[in-house]
Amino acid sequence: MNLKGRHFLTLKDFTPEEIQYLIDFSAYLKDKKKKGILVDELKGKNVALIFEKTSTRTRCSFEVAAHDLGMGTTYLDPSGSQIGKKESIADTARVLGRMYEGIEYRGYGQEIVEELAKYAGVPVWNGLTNEDHPTQMIADLLTIQEHKGTLKGLKFVYMGDARYNMGNALMIACAKMGLHFTACAPKEYFPNETLVKECEAYAKVSGGSITLTEDVTTGTKDADVIYTDVWVSMGEPDEVWEARIKDLLPYQVNKKAMEKAKPDAIFIHCLPAFHDLKTTIGKEISKKFGLEEMEVTDEVFESSQSVVFDEAENRMHSIKAIMAATLGMEMK
Ligand code: CP
Ligand code: NVA
Repeated sequence: MNLKGRHFLTLKDFTPEEIQYLIDFSAYLKDKKKKGILVDELKGKNVALIFEKTSTRTRCSFEVAAHDLGMGTTYLDPSGSQIGKKESIADTARVLGRMYEGIEYRGYGQEIVEELAKYAGVPVWNGLTNEDHPTQMIADLLTIQEHKGTLKGLKFVYMGDARYNMGNALMIACAKMGLHFTACAPKEYFPNETLVKECEAYAKVSGGSITLTEDVTTGTKDADVIYTDVWVSMGEPDEVWEARIKDLLPYQVNKKAMEKAKPDAIFIHCLPAFHDLKTTIGKEISKKFGLEEMEVTDEVFESSQSVVFDEAENRMHSIKAIMAATLGMEMK
């Protein structure tokens, strides 16, 4: 498998075999890390990390992974570069491409990361856009594989806002890898029709399927994996909270929803999550709308079925694999 020089913008661009290779490469690098075996074959290389939106996991994963691989990093924070304001994406890409062996971008439209990739001349990795979150997918698939022993044939249920980055990315990932994907949400929150059609075509090849339903009982029935994400994403205005709470509260992942799933079902959330009142926004929302937990209850989040911290750790191992593979390192 040779992924050298490839961009990592969306899983749509990768075959199931390539995706499986990245999952296996992540597991391989995780094993090396656990055994304390240094894998720093990319010494002398450097990567630029552009974040136009904030991050904990993705930023830390890229930094730790790059350092582990022997590479240097430059972090450009949401206000710390000229991108888009004084310098076009195309010019930025050509400048950074002369200095770095790879570029990570987190920000707004998918077209921005595509434009960077077009001009950079080095691999560009999508660290989250409004439309997609592909690095998260390798971590999620690895986590599911670790806990379930397989991917193919599992029933995967996404509850909440299924038309944004996480809903889209998970539908693509499941369709490519042969899982049965269910978006369980109000109709207006279903992923867009074009993407659904594309994913149905992937699912036809992989043996997976796509289901869109408003019904929580049938949606969650016999699920192997239940997944959710925040109801309001980065970059969205505060004014949407009220409507989101009203529309999405019936799709909260709570004990009742988990009880409809298989007894050994796992719960995943890309994080950060609003499951208690220990955050500023959590407190504000509680004061305004009287809600103590949002997309997931604290009970489910803290339960033994929740694998959110395994998944968070896997962000680092999988981002390491994505960088390593696209920069020409091989799994030995
Ligand atoms: N899941 C995820 O992408 O987390 P961060 O926003 O903290 O990077
Ligand atoms: N949908 C969330 C995902 C965070 C990892 C957001 O875009 O804010």
